[in-house]
Amino acid sequence: MAVRPRIAIVGPGRLGRALALELRRAGYCVSEIISRDTSASRQKARALAKQVKAKASAGGERFDGDLVWFCVPDREIARASRQLAEGLDWKGKTALHSSGALASDELRGLRQRGATVASVHPLMTFVGGSVPSLEGVPFALEGDAAALRVARRIVRDLGAEAFSISRNRKLAYHAWGAFASPLLIGLLVTAEKVARATGLSTSEARRRMLPILRQTLANYAQLGPAGAFSGPIVRGDASIVQQHLMELKKIPEAKEVYVALARAGLRYLPARNRKELEEVLGRM
Ligand SMILES: NC(=O)c1ccc[n+]([C@@H]2O[C@H](COP(=O)([O-])OP(=O)(O)OC[C@H]3O[C@@H](n4cnc5c(N)ncnc54)[C@H](OP(=O)(O)O)[C@@H]3O)[C@@H](O)[C@H]2O)c1
Repeated sequence: MAVRPRIAIVGPGRLGRALALELRRAGYCVSEIISRDTSASRQKARALAKQVKAKASAGGERFDGDLVWFCVPDREIARASRQLAEGLDWKGKTALHSSGALASDELRGLRQRGATVASVHPLMTFVGGSVPSLEGVPFALEGDAAALRVARRIVRDLGAEAFSISRNRKLAYHAWGAFASPLLIGLLVTAEKVARATGLSTSEARRRMLPILRQTLANYAQLGPAGAFSGPIVRGDASIVQQHLMELKKIPEAKEVYVALARAGLRYLPARNRKELEEVLGRM
């Protein structure tokens, strides 16, 4: 294999797009963008292929790269790799997927045909309309030794940081990642619902929350969770917590979230007046 592999991206979605652009920026040849065979999917592949000077194809009928990176939904990885496997010599080639939850075994079909395979998961969020920098982003890696060597080099060239994860710890790893972004967004949308009860519009609530959110993250990064924890729990003000809960009866989903998070705070963080707080939270 060439020192720098020619890379085909399967799935021009949120991750596939960001990865193709970042790989190209890092000096890699993105040789092909492979999509499903529908007109909407082909169109997305063509648009991305144009941006990174690759060819676009459906089903990988012309795949001739050194490395294929599956950026398809987790449930599609095995199927997409089986489709691509047909009629090709995979010896010396590398296949990667980016599921945080599934192990490299998902690519066993390609491994049986001679490829070396790995799972390479960036602990980062990719959404439509933004391409995050990969500088310093941790990538969790697991798989065959030869594929891991190739993947580590790519991760380093992207300015990111590779670390090893064992396959039987991937689900715990992925659940951790869920707390860091999607569930955090779940918390923020719940906060917006509560803000509506104060008479604010959703967009006003979002704008007014941003300074405290930014400072909270900065405090968390600098001081850790205990140092960043403020509010009625750390002060031991059980009566205020109780009144919050009475108020939140109007928004039962938000109340459930409040109780779950307050219990976590009480369990893991400094708090005065623990017994009374436990009673208030236990009673709800
Ligand atoms: N988004 C994130 O924040 C993030 C972060 C880390 C890891 N990941 C991982 O990245 C992978 C992709 O996630 P995503 O969020 O980028 O999903 P996504 O935005 O839904 O993109 C998936 C892409 O795969 C295409 N696709 C589906 N089945 C295919 C097939 N059989 N052959 C070729 N293309 C196919 C889809 O095309 P259609 O438009 O035709 O459906 C779409 O372009 C997943 O394994 C996920 O766990 C995602």
